[in-house]
Amino acid sequence: MKHLGILLSGRGSNFEAIATAVASGKISDTRIAIVISNREDAGGITRARELGIETLVFPSKGKAREEHDSEVVAALQQHKVDLVCLAGYMRLLSPWFVKQFPHRILNIHPSLLPAFPGLEAQEQAFAYGVKIAGCTVHLVDEELDHGPIILQKAIPVLDTDDEQSLAERILEQEHIAYSEAINLVLNGEFKILGRKIIASDRLPER
Ligand code: GAR
Repeated sequence: MKHLGILLSGRGSNFEAIATAVASGKISDTRIAIVISNREDAGGITRARELGIETLVFPSKGKAREEHDSEVVAALQQHKVDLVCLAGYMRLLSPWFVKQFPHRILNIHPSLLPAFPGLEAQEQAFAYGVKIAGCTVHLVDEELDHGPIILQKAIPVLDTDDEQSLAERILEQEHIAYSEAINLVLNGEFKILGRKIIASDRLPER
C-alpha cells in the first residue's frame, strides 16, 4: 500500500480528482495519508475533512521558508508518504525540501511548460493568443514549475473561448492527467535521463 501526501493552498479540485481515482481503484493499492495546507481557509481542506481524510494546516504567513518547510516535511515523514503531490500549492519548495523526497514530488501546472510558468497561467496563455493550451505534470526541482515533464495534455483554444471557458477545459484535463502521472510514478515504469522521462519499455538499447 502506497501513501500519498497532498499539499494544497486553495479550492482543491485536483486533490478531489485524485481522491476519486483512489476510491474507485483507478489509482490502486494507494491511500491519501495526509492533506496539508498552508492556509486554514483552503476549500480543499474542508473537502478533505468531509471525505474523512486526515488534514493538517501549517500557516506559512510570516514564517521563514525553511522553518515552514521543515514542519511540512516532518508531517509527511510521520505519515510515511511515498509520493508528495502538489495540487495548487502556491509556495516554492526550498532545495532542502526537494532533497528529502528525491524524484518523489509531483506538481501540476495549467500550461504546456515551459510556456507560462507562475501565476495565472491560463490567463497568460489566453492573452498571448496561443492556439493550443493544456497542462503539465512534472517532477519538482528547486525552480518554479520547472522539473522533468512526466506528461502533458493539450487542447485547442477555440475562437469562442474566453479566459474562464479555457481555464475550465484545461482543468478537466488536469484532473485526468494527475492520476495518470501518479500511476506512472508509483509503478516506476520510467527512467530519468537528464530532463527526459522515458517509459522503461522504450529506453534506447546500449
Ligand atoms: C490548478 O489549475 C493547478 O494547475 C494550479 O493551481 C490550480 C489549483 O486548482 N497550479 C499552479 O498554477 C502551480 N504553479 P485546484 O485547487 O482546484 O486543484
